[in-house]
Amino acid sequence: MIIRKIDCLKGEIKVPGDKSISHRAIMLGSLAKGKTIISNFLQADDCLATIKCFKQMGITINNDKVNNIVTVLGNGLHGLNKPSDLLNVGNSGTTIRLMSGILSGQKFTSMITGDDSIQSRPMNRVIKPLLQMNADIKSKNNNGCAPLLINGAPNTMDNRSLEGIKYISPVASAQIKSCVLFAGLYANKATSVLEPEISRNHTELMLQSFGGKVYSDSNTVTVEPNPKLIGQELEVPGDISSAAYFIAAAILLPNSEITIKSLGINPTRDGIIEVCRNMGADIGLDNIRYYGSEMVADITIKHSSIKAIEISGEIIPRLIDEIPIIAVLACFAEGQTVIKDAEELKVKESNRIDEMVNNLSKMGADIVSTDDGMIINGGLALKGTNINSKFDHRIAMSFTIAGLMADGDTIIEGYESVNISYPEFYNDILKLRN
Ligand code: S3P
Repeated sequence: MIIRKIDCLKGEIKVPGDKSISHRAIMLGSLAKGKTIISNFLQADDCLATIKCFKQMGITINNDKVNNIVTVLGNGLHGLNKPSDLLNVGNSGTTIRLMSGILSGQKFTSMITGDDSIQSRPMNRVIKPLLQMNADIKSKNNNGCAPLLINGAPNTMDNRSLEGIKYISPVASAQIKSCVLFAGLYANKATSVLEPEISRNHTELMLQSFGGKVYSDSNTVTVEPNPKLIGQELEVPGDISSAAYFIAAAILLPNSEITIKSLGINPTRDGIIEVCRNMGADIGLDNIRYYGSEMVADITIKHSSIKAIEISGEIIPRLIDEIPIIAVLACFAEGQTVIKDAEELKVKESNRIDEMVNNLSKMGADIVSTDDGMIINGGLALKGTNINSKFDHRIAMSFTIAGLMADGDTIIEGYESVNISYPEFYNDILKLRN
């Protein structure tokens, strides 16, 4: 894919449904009794992998792609069947980590894995709390990575359940938290997770709306076991992580003004808006409303000149997936942007600190990596070059936006990775291009 400079972005779009919420809607719909109807589902590879896994366990899921409505016929907490085959999550870290918690509570044995990226990402972060809960889970190759072999049997065959625990998570990770909370549904008593900072809370919100009992108290979330979950009707808000690329492009391209309709602005996800505003960007939120418990708004972004800031601490989990595009923004900000406390970026779909620093340097930016982030001195013009996205969707999209601002051609290798979270990404750029 060759990207060239454009003048500005104008108009209105709706970005696709939120990835995190789409995954959870399939999972909870499968564990609930009755029908769950999901509209504005994210029709992208990661979420389609979740559908496939639950279908393999006997759940009836009808995906009406024309109207974008997914219907799940759940059989209740104990209604999954042993999959006849290996469960394969493709590239989706959320699917494998959250499902590990669910599979640990089943009465059958299962094996779950994914693509090369998944097979090199750390799974001990979920294996450790699950073992504490008395689950029988192990890394098949003993390397702390997938494939994971999960024997639901020893704890549940004799109708004993998992052990409810109070888990102190060393990292602020919604994937770890959600895995433990899902396993907690099958435990003998309440299960709590304490995290160093609050991570995205979609699991807690959705579990509650399906009838689960979940309590949050500052950084601790507690779930009661064995709830009666009932199928729901829900609409998925637009994904703020996908919107971030257009927010950045509209800020950077002179004369731009765009509106993104029905965008999820859950306070555990809205760090990108806060950071852009603190950098001086003109962002307006209108028509603030709720889809169930999820806050939604129409947001308007105008071209703005921006200044550098420091980004660290509690905001990091609220914008963890947006740091690559924030690094692009920082190249155009006046002054030095410092990003700290973001070592988690090293274990995403690729090492996102290395990929951003190496590729933005190739484009002529003044950027260096640190142990837990990066430092960027803004103001140097970017020039087009070849970018190997390492098949990481967020690297491909970030460098596409950088390419819209750069002199010469930017060639994105592995641009097809956008299918993981945003298949219409390039079409949406064309829609807004002026
Ligand atoms: C996600 C949580 C985040 C995020 C990922 C989706 C989720 O990961 O990076 O894209 O849906 O729970 P961590 O919670 O591990 O940081």
